Amino acid sequence: MTFTLNETVYSTDTPEAKQAMYDDLRSQLTGLVHGERDWIANTANASSLVFNTMPGLNWAGFYFMQGADELVLGPFQGKPACIRIKKGRGVCGTTVEKRETILVPDVHAFPGHIACDANSRSELVVPIFGRNGEVIGVFDLDSPQPNRFDAVDAEGIQSLVRILEQTLA
Ligand code: SME
Repeated sequence: MTFTLNETVYSTDTPEAKQAMYDDLRSQLTGLVHGERDWIANTANASSLVFNTMPGLNWAGFYFMQGADELVLGPFQGKPACIRIKKGRGVCGTTVEKRETILVPDVHAFPGHIACDANSRSELVVPIFGRNGEVIGVFDLDSPQPNRFDAVDAEGIQSLVRILEQTLA
């Protein structure tokens, strides 16, 4: 697969090439959030950057905690999605409960997966932590390709979430 950034076409066929893509994504995101602490603006730009840079995605976006046990849809790119997800439900709610990244190679094999877009076949969900170590939301990436995401993607997306967390007031 390839991805395009600043009119340059990169390969994502090897782990090294993928790392290079995440190096570029980190540098782009750092620039986009520089001097800006508005969380909605920063996460909106992050969803657009990732969705328009990474190949093979049909959805990229955020859910934020509202109260102790519910996620609510935040900025995203892709088709309209489910608005509220209870903690412990679906891939996103399970990520909140476990406080760790979840890679789902085949969503049909994940018990309780919530199908917002019937085209989604694989999924990567990364928790977002607040200043006190509490989970404040998740960054969710979906793909129509089975097995689209691997450990390099999980680490790469986690590194983007760390950049966003630093902009929290
Ligand atoms: N599939 C997710 C729901 C969110 S959408 O994919 C955008 C889940 O199971 O939590």
